[in-house]
Amino acid sequence: MKIVAFMGQKGGTGKTTLAVHTAVAAGQDGHKVVLIDTDPQQSATFWGDNRKLETPIVATATPGQLPEVLAAAKAEGITLVVLDSAPHSSPNASEVARLADFIVIPTRASAFDLAAAESTVKIVKASNKPFGFVLNAIDQKVAESGEALDFLNNQYGGSVAPYKVGNRIAFARSIATGQGATEFDASEGKARGEIKLLWRWIKENI
Ligand SMILES: Nc1ncnc2c1ncn2[C@@H]1O[C@H](COP(=O)(O)OP(=O)(O)O)[C@@H](O)[C@H]1O
Ligand SMILES: [Mg+2]
Repeated sequence: MKIVAFMGQKGGTGKTTLAVHTAVAAGQDGHKVVLIDTDPQQSATFWGDNRKLETPIVATATPGQLPEVLAAAKAEGITLVVLDSAPHSSPNASEVARLADFIVIPTRASAFDLAAAESTVKIVKASNKPFGFVLNAIDQKVAESGEALDFLNNQYGGSVAPYKVGNRIAFARSIATGQGATEFDASEGKARGEIKLLWRWIKENI
């Protein structure tokens, strides 16, 4: 059983969005997936409640309950755990990082967002777990996203997803209907394609 955690000390970077879509894409790729929501805001749980399908399993847990929930998942034959986590709260973040096999840090491309990633990187590095960044909600026409990619490649260590995730309404619309972008896509397949590439990159790293 592998564990991929979406982390970041900043809110709104896309942790929940990308965790949900990744969980669906991994399930379509044959994994038996549990999506565990450790954020008290429970956005991923909200998505699970709106979803009509049984998979992925969506569980809600505090970081303190994680060891027990993970043991139960393993006993159930789960092959992939996708962990969605809360912004801030360092002790909890350390616990999540410690349990993960690979940590994904979504970030937007602005200078503020890129600088804010530093506090997450510190926590993640202390866990000695492999980590990588994914640039999220990128307007493909804006040149800064290329600079952001260069910055991430050089600044913090860790890997960087070779593909950016675009700023697309399909990501939010599919969430609102309890779906994943790879199941629902009104944007000519672009959102679906980006999530497939994101999942492929994660798969190579877990
Ligand atoms: N790639 C994207 N394209 C468009 N909107 C996005 C994208 N990623 C996230 N969002 C939107 O940004 C907001 C914050 O995303 P969310 O996943 O909740 O962030 P976090 O979990 O890191 O706080 C949500 O309204 C979400 O719909
Ligand atoms: Mg969230």
